[in-house]
Amino acid sequence: MTIIIVVSISIGVFLIVAVFAGFLLMRKKKKPYQVIEPAHGIDVSESLQYDFREIKAATDDFSDANKLGQGGFGFVYKGKLPNGQEIAVKRLSVGSGQGDVEFKNEVLLVAKLQHRNLVRLLGFSLERAERLLVYEFVQNASLDKFLFNPIKCKDLDWERRSKIIGGISRGLLYLHEESRLKIIHRDLKASNILLDGEMNSKIADFGMARLCPTDETQGSTNRIVGTYGYMSPEYAMHGQFSVKSDVFSFGVLILEIVTGQKNNSFRNGENTEDLLSVAWKYWHQRTIEDMIDPVLRASLGSLRDILRCIHIGLLCVQDNPANRPTMASIVLMLSSFTISLPVPSEPTFFHK
Ligand SMILES: *[C@@H]1O[C@H](CO)[C@@H](O)[C@H](O)[C@H]1NC(C)=O
Ligand SMILES: *[C@@H]1O[C@H](CO)[C@@H](O)[C@H](O)[C@H]1NC(C)=O
Repeated sequence: MTIIIVVSISIGVFLIVAVFAGFLLMRKKKKPYQVIEPAHGIDVSESLQYDFREIKAATDDFSDANKLGQGGFGFVYKGKLPNGQEIAVKRLSVGSGQGDVEFKNEVLLVAKLQHRNLVRLLGFSLERAERLLVYEFVQNASLDKFLFNPIKCKDLDWERRSKIIGGISRGLLYLHEESRLKIIHRDLKASNILLDGEMNSKIADFGMARLCPTDETQGSTNRIVGTYGYMSPEYAMHGQFSVKSDVFSFGVLILEIVTGQKNNSFRNGENTEDLLSVAWKYWHQRTIEDMIDPVLRASLGSLRDILRCIHIGLLCVQDNPANRPTMASIVLMLSSFTISLPVPSEPTFFHK
């Protein structure tokens, strides 16, 4: 009797286990054939959207202590997300020329522009009239903070400066020609060049014409957004912009990086003069070496490289946009020393 009970219980248990195991095996087997549902209904823009309250908390309610600076379109704040990630938040101040949907679409497009020499746009946040752009945080602030600071400029030896110039040129080339959107920066200047922990240069503030559109027709604008001193003559005077107006600003940047002096003033003993006029004068007198930042005296082993950079800078600031090289040929000129450079023609002087 007991034997029968024990045997039938064992058989019962065995059957239950067998059926269960079979069931598990079948489920496992079925898995590879499962159809993966396409992610219908998930709005891609949602994945780039940050909660406004989260950003507000991350920047300590946009506190002055977290203010990193002011750009053409509003203040920029440093923030730290709950997961520890550091961010830079641009709080747009200008009246929006577009609705929420258009804004989201433009953020999606601009966020796709990814290059190691561009500051990465991570996303956005919306709350009533508030519009925020969330960017990656870049460690070493902007180029002007080094270049025009009598102590910190010493951190920029020629090797670093030439790496910075190369980085900007590749970032601009990407914006102009390699990305799907053809982006003209329009406000390229030292304070829009950020430096990461390894002192690589990253261009900030690109795509703003899409994110903050103002009244304008294709290729010309009534509201000039650039910074005087970096603006090409055709843009400053007629509001005409093109990739060649960016090339002009890039040329001014090169001259600033090599001389350590600001676009609008070149200290020459007692006098201050316009940087471009001085560069042109010295170029003609064949005394261009005198313009090189004294901090770079130790790098004079690279004098040939430095002079070549000045030469390229002068090609970029030529009066006629058609004579200015494209970013593609500039990148080539900067990387290959066997390419011979044309003779620059006279730049336009603002303060003559
Ligand atoms: C740049 O940032 C890194 C990381 O924060 C720091 O270690 C480095 O000293 C900085 N470089 C300069 C030249 O300030
Ligand atoms: C020159 O550059 C500085 C910042 O780098 C900017 O503030 C200034 O407006 C620019 N232009 C002139 C003409 O001062």
